[in-house]
Amino acid sequence: MKIAFVGKGGSGKTTLSALFIRHLAAAGRPVIAVDADINQHLGPALGLTDDQAARLPALGAHLPQIKEYLRGGNPRIASADLMIKTTPPGEGSRLLRIVEENPIYAACARPVALDEGSVRLMVTGVFTEEDLGVACYHSKVGAVELLLNHLVDGPGEYLVTDMTAGSDSFASGLFTRFDLTFLIAEPTRKGISVYRQYKEYARDFGVALRVVGNKVQSADDLAYLRREVGDDLLAAFGHSDWVRRLEQGAEPGLSSLEPDNRAVLGALQQATDAAFETRDPRRYTEQAVHFHLRNAESWGNAKAGADLAAQIDPDFTLPPAGAHVPAALDGTSQAAAGV
Ligand SMILES: Nc1ncnc2c1ncn2[C@@H]1O[C@H](COP(=O)(O)OP(=O)(O)OP(=O)(O)O)[C@@H](O)[C@H]1O
Ligand SMILES: [Mg+2]
Repeated sequence: MKIAFVGKGGSGKTTLSALFIRHLAAAGRPVIAVDADINQHLGPALGLTDDQAARLPALGAHLPQIKEYLRGGNPRIASADLMIKTTPPGEGSRLLRIVEENPIYAACARPVALDEGSVRLMVTGVFTEEDLGVACYHSKVGAVELLLNHLVDGPGEYLVTDMTAGSDSFASGLFTRFDLTFLIAEPTRKGISVYRQYKEYARDFGVALRVVGNKVQSADDLAYLRREVGDDLLAAFGHSDWVRRLEQGAEPGLSSLEPDNRAVLGALQQATDAAFETRDPRRYTEQAVHFHLRNAESWGNAKAGADLAAQIDPDFTLPPAGAHVPAALDGTSQAAAGV
């Protein structure tokens, strides 16, 4: 299950994605955590020191290897140089799974031990001033788009991405690559305006979007969110002393998180697991093709000196994923995971 966290700067994307990742790990689920935000904070939010986080390998620095691996023996892609971030998989391409060893994970993913289990973390890499607004920036996030387009995942296993909100994710097809997108919104006009903007793009592309309120302090806050967001509101995370203690450097266990807030994480998992039922593999492939053609026409063909539309394998769709059945499944989550 591919999940994105988006929202206004400072709304709590990193905090809530890290907590959701810990929650899934605590349930014994396999998780790949991906930091695709301009502000790379997911590593520290998962408990890495700044020094450890700074030494994480960057996806953006491994693009040639990533492309070479994914290309495999696909005859439509003559060389890794001709692969752009939207090049879709086809016959002969190598596909990725959440639970496996492969050269991309070996080069770009690092295990992060949590007190509730362990996850794999991948990061796009630090964005420098020069990156912003130029090709480099997009190619870093582009690595994530490539990985998602080649990923075969099923219920009970998760890839959770801490994203950047706004026009940068809309410029590429990245925002359409998720089974469910959680938009984190504080009960403020700015939080809601980012929601409205995202919702417009989401509607055009059939993106499943749910709002998670954050830093909700009162019944009035909750009423405000309900009024502005309606049925898109999935749950509301309160203003949390536990999160504040975390921010102050303490390492509180997940089990001591306020029960109401812990329940929000459960609601996120339930919504995620339910999203499997509405997954539409045909649309997923069609959108990959749509964004590839758009990118090919606007810059890819010129850069490659070739017609990249020829990379599309018209007969290819991703194979269905076998459900991963972790040992720690209990009765309720078995039902939720559809196994
Ligand atoms: N529910 C909460 N209760 C208390 N503090 C919170 C809560 N959620 C987030 N915060 C605090 O708000 C600040 C911003 O949160 P966070 O870094 O997760 O936001 P973000 O959306 O990832 O920001 P950025 O856009 O900079 O990446 C942090 O100091 C965090 O500790
Ligand atoms: Mg963040």
